[in-house]
Amino acid sequence: QQLYFDNMNVLITAGPTREPIDTVRFISNRSSGKMGFSIAKQVKNYGGNVDLITGPVSLDDISQINTIKIETALEMDKEIDILLNKKQYNYIFMVAAIADYKATNIENKKIKSSSKILDIRFKKNPDILKKISKNNNAKIIGFALETNNGEENALKKMKDKNLDYIILNYANEKNAGFDSNRNHVFLYSKNGLKKEFKLDRKDRIAKLILNTIITNEQN
Ligand code: CTP
Repeated sequence: QQLYFDNMNVLITAGPTREPIDTVRFISNRSSGKMGFSIAKQVKNYGGNVDLITGPVSLDDISQINTIKIETALEMDKEIDILLNKKQYNYIFMVAAIADYKATNIENKKIKSSSKILDIRFKKNPDILKKISKNNNAKIIGFALETNNGEENALKKMKDKNLDYIILNYANEKNAGFDSNRNHVFLYSKNGLKKEFKLDRKDRIAKLILNTIITNEQN
């Protein structure tokens, strides 16, 4: 096994976030956490020191990986701040499907089913990735989940969020991506690299992504 990440600190986020609306309910998304966990496992196998921050997933903990469990985007934001204040990272992989919005008001009791229409208002969560990339020397990898104009949107996200790499996958593709064991992705780098990794198991896709980034960084 090559030790491509020997002596490197790597921060990885995975899974969905949950945004509560009352004491028993929340809004979330279908992220399984498998892509993030696969990347974490492979970085560890390549010799890296991994900190993994994950939303609620039904995956086993990975041995020798410091795993921090959170629910909301704000908790994710807080835990990332704590780590970034303590440590310098070589790589940050933002794989998590962080909710863009949270409820403006969380009811402190269960919402009753008495009204015919239920209005819930939401406000923007912080864009964690954008904040991180403003003042961090790590190589930063973002993920983009799109349904249409994928390449255009992904390249725009890479630029707007000041990323070194972006991995694009589609939400409307059969047997791939969200909620699946397999994925089909496109990798773009800010120095113009473009690669497609055809539908395959997420552990193999993780390895391809990491090998490509390592090779690109060595050049
Ligand atoms: N992300 C983040 N903080 C958020 C939302 C997303 O750090 N509040 C990160 C994700 O982890 C991912 C990347 O940003 O790496 C892309 O997320 P996405 O939601 O697709 O991007 P948005 O800028 O929210 O664009 P869209 O309008 O397509 O949702």
